[in-house]
Amino acid sequence: MSTSRENWSSKLGVILAVAGSAVGLGNFLRFPVQAATNGGGTFIIPYLIAFLILGIPLSWIEWTLGRYAGILRHGTSPSAYDKIIDRPWGKYLGSLGLLPPLFIICYYVFIESWILAFAWYSLTGKLMAVVQAGEITQFFGNFISLQEKIGSIPAAIFFFAITFICNMVVILLGVRKGIERANKISMPILVIMGIILVIRVLTLPDISHGLAFMWNPDFSALLNPKIWLAAAGQVFFTMSLGMGIVFCYASYTKRHDDIALSSLSAGSANAFAEIILGGTIVIPLAVIVIGSNIEECAKMGTFGLAFQSMPLVFGKLPLGSLFMTIWFTMLFIAGVTSAISIIQPLISFCEDDLKISHKNSVLTVGTVSLIGGIIAIAGLAAGAVEELDFWGGSFFLVVLGAVQALIFTIILGKKRHRRDSIGFELLNDGSAIRLPKFFRIIIRFVCPAALILLLVAWIVHDGW
Ligand code: PFF
Repeated sequence: MSTSRENWSSKLGVILAVAGSAVGLGNFLRFPVQAATNGGGTFIIPYLIAFLILGIPLSWIEWTLGRYAGILRHGTSPSAYDKIIDRPWGKYLGSLGLLPPLFIICYYVFIESWILAFAWYSLTGKLMAVVQAGEITQFFGNFISLQEKIGSIPAAIFFFAITFICNMVVILLGVRKGIERANKISMPILVIMGIILVIRVLTLPDISHGLAFMWNPDFSALLNPKIWLAAAGQVFFTMSLGMGIVFCYASYTKRHDDIALSSLSAGSANAFAEIILGGTIVIPLAVIVIGSNIEECAKMGTFGLAFQSMPLVFGKLPLGSLFMTIWFTMLFIAGVTSAISIIQPLISFCEDDLKISHKNSVLTVGTVSLIGGIIAIAGLAAGAVEELDFWGGSFFLVVLGAVQALIFTIILGKKRHRRDSIGFELLNDGSAIRLPKFFRIIIRFVCPAALILLLVAWIVHDGW
């Protein structure tokens, strides 16, 4: 049984860990497609509005709830809500918070392992040969259907095992020595790789045409509610909100750590990676180098873009194997730092709520995610990943975000002999910044109302 909870060794550590979770496939693959298909440059208007009235406030709310949970020595919502809400139904409501990590982990490690495999094939030159032979679609198909082998072992299984072990070793090393250190090492590498790719893109002849394709504003699109829903959905996903990740990471902060500024820093770092790196690389490259149009990019979807279009694109550039390797390595880093962030809440639940030792928690979560993953992959052809992604990766996030906002406003809105509400006291404790009044109103009223509106609009619109 664990007696003491770990905490982050530095402010930079927790900022990088939250940013590492946020910067993921969503930044490099989901964002460009969402932006390009929802008004191009105009998408940035609803995106920034959603960032201000939903992303930043909800991130502050989740950090605050996480800090409160940490003080109560919990890192996930079942026991934390039980105590914070103090009603018999609190723990049932809190238990819903475990669903996104449980759903997402089942398929995420597989996708992460495909990326590792493609990074390896890029490095060895095999991917380049496949591209030049015009066989990329077939190769990807063979790979995921286990026909591509390394020796006698299917390559997909080989790379899955390596990826799985990589994630679990980081988790086994713990919050400081594992998660914090992994993010401190890998995030600067990710940014450097991203900048190298951006420079490569921006120095291509005729690139202004590619950038215009992605960023040309279409102001009439603002009248379409769909682009507002898409922007809100993207902000939610990219900031890892409602997934229990920020909640769990914040629970490992020390009592008077500055969470208001840390939250803002991590959110801004993610927005930079999304708009500057994500918005410059994929679509402008695909448009310029292989002449794709937006409809084709959108139709390719996340996987098609990552594993088929991008190898084709790099295949046509001088030093293509090098840039391909940088691309897939950068994606792999983004994947690992996100994957460990979705595993940690499950570990924390085992340790803090079920009182299982760290080693046994890692073993338990590893086994559950392995079994879940095998079931998810077996159902891949039947669309299981899309189904898991919809329920675990989209719908529940907004529901759980709305629950968090309501808890902050209603339960932590009480004053109890204080000059400030419990929520704002916790949020401001130790902070170098004081929230302007404007943001307090947004957090307490606008954000919960916007979330409820979003849920209704989403149900009416049948998904974003
Ligand atoms: N913010 C991440 C992204 O943009 O890719 C979302 C995420 C997905 C986080 C999956 C963690 C995870 F396991």
